[in-house]
Amino acid sequence: MNPVWICPTGPVVMALVIRRYRPSDKDTVLTLFGTCTREHISPCFFNAMKSFYHFSVIMALLIAGYHLGSVFAAVLLPAAWTGLVYFSCYTLYDGYVRLKLNSDMADIVGSFLSRPDDCFWVAEVEGKGQVVGMVAVVAKQSGKERYGELFRMIIAPEFRRAGLGSRLTETVLAFSKERGFSKVLLETSSTQQPAVALYKKLGFRLFDNDFFYFSNQTKYYLMQHCVCLCPHSCTLNHMKQ
Ligand SMILES: CC(C)(COP(=O)(O)OP(=O)(O)OC[C@H]1O[C@@H](n2cnc3c(N)ncnc32)[C@H](O)[C@@H]1OP(=O)(O)O)[C@@H](O)C(=O)NCCC(=O)NCCS
Repeated sequence: MNPVWICPTGPVVMALVIRRYRPSDKDTVLTLFGTCTREHISPCFFNAMKSFYHFSVIMALLIAGYHLGSVFAAVLLPAAWTGLVYFSCYTLYDGYVRLKLNSDMADIVGSFLSRPDDCFWVAEVEGKGQVVGMVAVVAKQSGKERYGELFRMIIAPEFRRAGLGSRLTETVLAFSKERGFSKVLLETSSTQQPAVALYKKLGFRLFDNDFFYFSNQTKYYLMQHCVCLCPHSCTLNHMKQ
């Protein structure tokens, strides 16, 4: 029996249950995954456009177009650059969705539930069968160290800021501790500030990763959280904050 949790979403109070994924959840899970990952495209674009680099390029193109003596060039060159920046943001997140829909998300049971140390959970509105959140963990091995990697943390927009993301993350941490993992690792990006804030609040630390998508000014982050009782078996290299 899964514990029922009361979720105060706006004026409505709903009972939510966190349980293992079932094949009948697939359509909702794939729709949530696609929609909520693609929602990063616009913030990524606006962040990029606010950067000094793109601002300078756009101004330079505007001035170059003006000096060419053509209003058309002065408008077209900056517009073309802006379009390229948007395209870069779009391909980053849309490309990721397409890649995953054709790989691990095409067979969720095979990818996340076929080994005892992996799991895929969903959060469901009790009684309605409506899936409103998900998260997965996959066991990894590096030398002698066994750790878990957290994937697919998604909460439906209307259920956010009610503690559900925290509950799902805590579910992953408890499962990882039970399985004897040393730590939980995850990848995210500078565009996903709500996610970064959530993980930091729950004790994840950002560690050094300087991979940077220059075209859209997005920084790639690796975050991790020790879960083992013996701190020495958890490698926390290059901690930043
Ligand atoms: C990131 C996400 C999972 C958070 O889920 P959530 O259910 O809203 O999170 P919680 O309600 O448990 O929030 C816990 C804490 O995280 C931080 N946080 C969450 N959303 C935030 C936001 N929009 N802005 C600032 N901080 C935020 C806050 O510290 C919050 O605590 P508080 O409400 O007491 O201030 C959700 O916004 C989401 O699905 N985003 C899109 C998908 C995504 O980016 N997934 C992460 C993949 S790595």
